[in-house]
Amino acid sequence: MLTLALLLQLASPAAPPIDPAAPPIDWDAEFGVAPVAVDPDTGERPVNAYVVDNANAGARPVRSPSLAAEFGGRAGLHRIVDRLVASAETDPRIGPIFAATDNVRLRRTLFEQVCYLLAAGCDYTGRDMAATHKDLGLQVEDLNVLVSLLQDAMQAEDVPFGAQNRLLAKLVGMKHDVVTR
Ligand code: HEM
Repeated sequence: MLTLALLLQLASPAAPPIDPAAPPIDWDAEFGVAPVAVDPDTGERPVNAYVVDNANAGARPVRSPSLAAEFGGRAGLHRIVDRLVASAETDPRIGPIFAATDNVRLRRTLFEQVCYLLAAGCDYTGRDMAATHKDLGLQVEDLNVLVSLLQDAMQAEDVPFGAQNRLLAKLVGMKHDVVTR
């Protein structure tokens, strides 16, 4: 036993002494990890380059200029989107899908999308639905959960049923871009 311990000691080179005054190791530089330029005001993280186009919103806007008012205008749409995202992230069925998502970007682009679709005076600057969801492996059950959470969020904002259905009708057409399994 003593011989084995002696052999091990001889075989392993002595660890260099730790210098407490040495500067901390920059592990990102060691492994070549590029710094991420997070927006200093919002905390939003950058994404790979893509062509910005309202067509990325996945549907044409409604023609009725008064529909957005039934959602409480842009302020109401912000509240609906924030409520939807918060409830999706904490939902036991679909929450884990959002674990690595940039919540700031999702709330911004989702707001722009519904604002654009409801002709409430926004442009959509996010990615198209197929590119955004292609690697998520979503099933129709996931979409059904998200739609019911959206209905809850619209209900909480007292959006009339007819108006709710006008927005849902826009989203239905995106099913094949979002659901891939
Ligand atoms: C018609 C239904 C849907 C619409 C309109 C929609 C819309 C969007 C939008 C606008 C974005 C952000 C795009 C961007 O970053 O440029 C996004 C991202 C995302 N969506 Fe959806 N979505 C839908 C369905 C779903 C469903 C059913 C799930 C999961 C239950 C989901 C999960 C996600 C996730 C995880 C991201 C972030 C992806 C990433 O981080 O790259 N989406 N969605």
